[in-house]
Amino acid sequence: MSSRSIEIDAESAPQKGAATAEPNGAEPIIAASDVHKTYAGAGEPVHALRGVTLSVARGEMVTIMGPSGCGKTTLLNCLSGLETIEQGEIFVEGRSIHDMPDNERTDHRARRMGFVFQFYNLLPVLSAVENVELPLLLAGLGQGEARNRSIEALEQVGLHDWSGHRPAQLSGGQRQRVTIARALVNDPAIVWGDEPTGDLDSTNANQIMELLEDLNRRNQQTFVIVTHDENIGRRANRTIHMRDGLIEGETVHRQLGS
Ligand SMILES: Nc1ncnc2c1ncn2[C@@H]1O[C@H](COP(=O)(O)OP(=O)(O)OP(=O)(O)O)[C@@H](O)[C@H]1O
Ligand SMILES: [Mg+2]
Repeated sequence: MSSRSIEIDAESAPQKGAATAEPNGAEPIIAASDVHKTYAGAGEPVHALRGVTLSVARGEMVTIMGPSGCGKTTLLNCLSGLETIEQGEIFVEGRSIHDMPDNERTDHRARRMGFVFQFYNLLPVLSAVENVELPLLLAGLGQGEARNRSIEALEQVGLHDWSGHRPAQLSGGQRQRVTIARALVNDPAIVWGDEPTGDLDSTNANQIMELLEDLNRRNQQTFVIVTHDENIGRRANRTIHMRDGLIEGETVHRQLGS
């Protein structure tokens, strides 16, 4: 991991700063270097990532912004090991995510990562608490323990009284809170969000972001969130700006721990 520098766009906003994700020299929780990802389609191959290098410190909240099609979702999917890469290296918690055998990678994802996407991906026939506990039951946890942890997670997102409601009986903001509870229930080290507020009005979007910030502070979890919304973007410690499959710069909003 010799080349972990990040390109800085020096001509942009004044608060742009150094790309050091490790303020005290600690090992970054995510370290990617020269990541390339190409999709072979019916026509010309699409070079979705063309050499992305970045690092994220443990406990940091980072947002990723950039025009539609610039590779944000692809980057999230590659960093979390959901997609393969052709070139480059990705270390998560010190381990090369793409060198792990498939079953270990799946297991690592299930135990150490949580996912919050734009469209809630909740099962309509299950109640809020059943949706939250599903990953725990799939992971083999006993029913009683899974239920207790799921209720705790729903409490954390302020939905304790709604645990018996099905998704259709909840508002958009409440549904997204259930998704967040589901992402948190296994106490992950990293939470990935792909436009988690994209489907919400600005009041609900702000409330969800406040919740994520609060969880980030309280639980010291690392958050990597793709967003199109500048107001959401600047609430992180740092925004990484992407364009055309590359990182074109970053903006530091507040130092980690401040
Ligand atoms: N499974 C796929 N097969 C082929 N091409 C893909 C696939 N997924 C993404 N792409 C292409 O890769 C490029 C990057 O897509 P990606 O979804 O990462 O963009 P994005 O920045 O997340 O955009 P948006 O803001 O619209 O969600 C696009 O040109 C897209 O068409
Ligand atoms: Mg996307």
